[in-house]
Amino acid sequence: MRVEYYPAPPPPGPRGSGELSHETGLELDAIVATAADLELPNFARTVDALLGGSANFAVDRDAADALLDLDPLADVRARAQRGFTRRVVRHAQARGIDQFLDLGCGIPSVHSVHDVVLGRDPAARVAYVDLDPVVVAHARDLVADRPTVSVTWGDLRAPACVATAPGVGDHLDLARPVALLVGGALQFVHDDIAAVLAGWRRLLAPGSLLAATHGTTVTRDVVPNLDALYVRGLAGLCLRSPHQVREAFAVVGPAVDVVDWPAAGAGGRAATGVLGAVGLVG
Ligand SMILES: C[S@@+](CC[C@H](N)C(=O)[O-])C[C@H]1O[C@@H](n2cnc3c(N)ncnc32)[C@H](O)[C@@H]1O
Repeated sequence: MRVEYYPAPPPPGPRGSGELSHETGLELDAIVATAADLELPNFARTVDALLGGSANFAVDRDAADALLDLDPLADVRARAQRGFTRRVVRHAQARGIDQFLDLGCGIPSVHSVHDVVLGRDPAARVAYVDLDPVVVAHARDLVADRPTVSVTWGDLRAPACVATAPGVGDHLDLARPVALLVGGALQFVHDDIAAVLAGWRRLLAPGSLLAATHGTTVTRDVVPNLDALYVRGLAGLCLRSPHQVREAFAVVGPAVDVVDWPAAGAGGRAATGVLGAVGLVG
């Protein structure tokens, strides 16, 4: 049974900022067996159901329906976000980048980063990282035949720890430019996300791209229902206004609706309320 190293798991609820230690060794298979309770929806599998993927179960599809009742555009937003990531990947490839680090990757079943990357450059390397062991287990199955793709169980709030974890530090060369993708994960991070992004930025070589997205459409009264739905969610939703996201993303670049990057309407005409920013590391 493989032993994975990752930062100590977070306590539930909001937490202070600061680097997490890299000291815990846990057995992934055992954790997945406990976490993958098929009686309960899993957040990443619910997103997969929204996207029309096959890495989900009836309980997740029911959760996706319930989510659409609360947020009728949830599937549109999920697709728009992956569309943004796809355009960022192509942009990075046009700049000659051949290494991709996807933090909070979710289940890479449909519109996956590795499909886009390897479709154009089969020798490129992709490192997926997610905090949810269920995601890690699904992702490993999905990329088992892809030697240039790794999947690491890690917490994006601990940049130095994740960057040196097996599967990232051994798989990518961070002394060369990398495209760092943080799509849809930061709204689950209660820490100071500007500090987290700045921590990652400091680790990237000049010429790297840093891209992040954050949903802003959910209203306060919906959050308890969403959290109840994401009973396996890790830290619960963290509501931030568009203004707060723009401020936090200043460390990356100007934030725009994901459909409006790299140019207005590039991903469709209807605004999604999901903000994205892309920046070049100088
Ligand atoms: C909405 S999904 C986004 C999936 C994909 N990146 C996309 O753009 O569609 C958010 C993912 O972030 C992961 N996540 C949340 N907090 C995280 C953390 N602190 N570190 C790593 N992953 C995290 C969740 O487990 C989940 O799989």
